[in-house]
Amino acid sequence: MTDEAQKPEEAEAKPFAKLAESIRIGEVDVRNRIVLPAMATGFGSSEGFLTERCIAYYLERARGGVGLIIVEPAAVAPAGRHIANTPLLNDDKFTQMHQRLCEVLHVEGVKLFVQLMHAGRKTSSRLTGMKPVAPSSRADRDFGEKPVALKTEEIAEIVDSFVAAAVRAHQAGYDGVELVASGGFLLHQFLSRDSNRRKDNYGGDLVARARVLTDIVAGIRAAAPTLAVSVRMGPGRKKDYHLPMDELLEVARLSAGAGASCIDVALGAEMLPRTDRVPIASPGQVQRPVEPVVKGAVTVPVIGGGGIFDLRVAEQLVKNGRVDMVALGRPIVTDPQLPTKIFSSRVAALRPCIHCNVCLSRLSDPTMSCPANPMVGREQLFWLARRGAGHHVVVVGAGLAGLWTCMAAAELGYTVELFEEGSILGNLLAVRSRVPGQTDNYALVDYLSRELQTLGVKFHLRRKVTLRDVLDQRPDVVFVTRIGEIQVPEIDGLSNVQTLDPVTVLSGEPTMGDKVVLLGGGLMGAELAYYLAKRGKHVTLLEERSRVASDTHPELRQHIIAALREMDCPVHVGVHDLQVNVYGELTAQHEKRTLRLLVDTVILAGNYETCDNTLRELEGKVKEVHFIGDAYETAELTKLVYQATGILADLADRL
Ligand SMILES: Cc1cc2nc3c(=O)[nH]c(=O)nc-3n(C[C@H](O)[C@H](O)[C@H](O)COP(=O)(O)O)c2cc1C
Ligand code: SF4
Repeated sequence: MTDEAQKPEEAEAKPFAKLAESIRIGEVDVRNRIVLPAMATGFGSSEGFLTERCIAYYLERARGGVGLIIVEPAAVAPAGRHIANTPLLNDDKFTQMHQRLCEVLHVEGVKLFVQLMHAGRKTSSRLTGMKPVAPSSRADRDFGEKPVALKTEEIAEIVDSFVAAAVRAHQAGYDGVELVASGGFLLHQFLSRDSNRRKDNYGGDLVARARVLTDIVAGIRAAAPTLAVSVRMGPGRKKDYHLPMDELLEVARLSAGAGASCIDVALGAEMLPRTDRVPIASPGQVQRPVEPVVKGAVTVPVIGGGGIFDLRVAEQLVKNGRVDMVALGRPIVTDPQLPTKIFSSRVAALRPCIHCNVCLSRLSDPTMSCPANPMVGREQLFWLARRGAGHHVVVVGAGLAGLWTCMAAAELGYTVELFEEGSILGNLLAVRSRVPGQTDNYALVDYLSRELQTLGVKFHLRRKVTLRDVLDQRPDVVFVTRIGEIQVPEIDGLSNVQTLDPVTVLSGEPTMGDKVVLLGGGLMGAELAYYLAKRGKHVTLLEERSRVASDTHPELRQHIIAALREMDCPVHVGVHDLQVNVYGELTAQHEKRTLRLLVDTVILAGNYETCDNTLRELEGKVKEVHFIGDAYETAELTKLVYQATGILADLADRL
């Protein structure tokens, strides 16, 4: 039966039929409605070149069946770079690697736009070596550096640099470019009344504030008529760069009028549920007031997205005509195969994103990483499957690092045995999923355990593993991925009260009193305090250092502090000289006074030993043994997962 002869009900029966439909943007035919939106990876070189690592990252996603990839922002001028390693497209020397990317990826049938960006004041002279520029000389809240206000003639140069970069993109083989007029970058700075106080032709009413954008769109249209031009815009954040709905719609109309081929709506952070930025609140449905209204204002296709983790929502958005295409960013970071899987009815096999935002928060490393996909940024390493065939790996400990070690080893062709003393897979990540707002973590553990069974990994659970157990397996390599014991602080009289460790508390329902003191205000202690306060316990959190949750990224830190405040949970930092008397009174020195608390239970939420060292004797008895450990905080956990899987990827050459 031909497609045309199919009855409507049969066509409906196709999984995600609407998302699977092709669409035309300008003169570009896109195979389906799924877009990988622009996401800075940090995989470019510090000089501004795309790298083979970038190409591999995008190739993996093109192979996964996405319709349109919007390649991460390339700055149109060196002063416009936003982060270290932002690619550049201000000179012909940068075109060659973009050309290579287009050649390699087009073979996969994907269409490619590159985002063109100027960070304006959203950067620093420390990063670029130049003073930031902006419409007016007001500093960005986050960056704080006072920019130089652009002279009128310099604005014409900025317009030219966007057009020139678009022409280079066209020559490189891109199907389109995207102008980022959201995210607080330069074009957004011009649009926003708050950041644009100009009195010339580029300031004042909206038409004037949008002039840079519309001049660029028109300039690209004239210089490269077949190149599609997407304009990314959004309502911004309430506190800055905010565009009210009527202005946003007008910008969409003006852009389309100037020749834009599509509008990409980027939701502002406040429109996304808190889980989207920080995983503390319980997941909620994203309100989407913006996209359908934009769709009603223009005739060109509208891309919408942000916070869509349930693919049925994506299908409905397109089906109900609220958007034409759906952008799925983090879901495709974690699972590049997402489109192929959903179009072939394999939704259950999707690897879930756990909304941890490790990919966004790059405190110590400028490159993207993800605990739900340790192949991110190292795609090439894992393309050479079956390298491990004939070798045997034993993994001790079923935390996330342990589970990923098994998964990567099995996929690379090793035979794998997993030993775990407890009965729960996932260890710290699994127990963390009991904290309100963290439940999605378990989806990842669940996914990995299902995949491991399919891959034939042999599990030995509820078994205290001995040296003999491991040696009997005759392993080539052993990975020890368990945490060690909790470190008990030296506190006089601690034995006068019940003491518990966090894992015991979170993994079961131990009998405990109502008056609880948590010793240790790292992320684990803070979340545990929140968990217990939610259960009606009177919890006090004590921390020796000067800050709570200082071991996590600033956004999560702020949210956990706000959550503790909401629960009226007392938090004391900088405490020292703790003692407990026989009546269960805990005293501590705090801000030159003595703090007194009546306590039933003390939870030792300080530090676990990073790794279980009980199997140290394996060293010298097997070819290789690696002590990796486990972690509670996700960025730390991600490092361990990358460490273990990285060792595996090049292990076969050494064995
Ligand atoms: C690691 C990361 C980097 C991002 N970089 C950019 C960027 O350079 N330009 C941009 O317009 N949006 C950027 N975004 C926003 C995404 O394009 C997308 O709008 C956002 O992630 C919400 O979609 P999602 O919930 O499907 O991930 C970035 C997002 C992430 C997670
Ligand atoms: S790092 Fe976290 S938020 Fe980002 S894609 Fe991976 S799981 Fe999702």
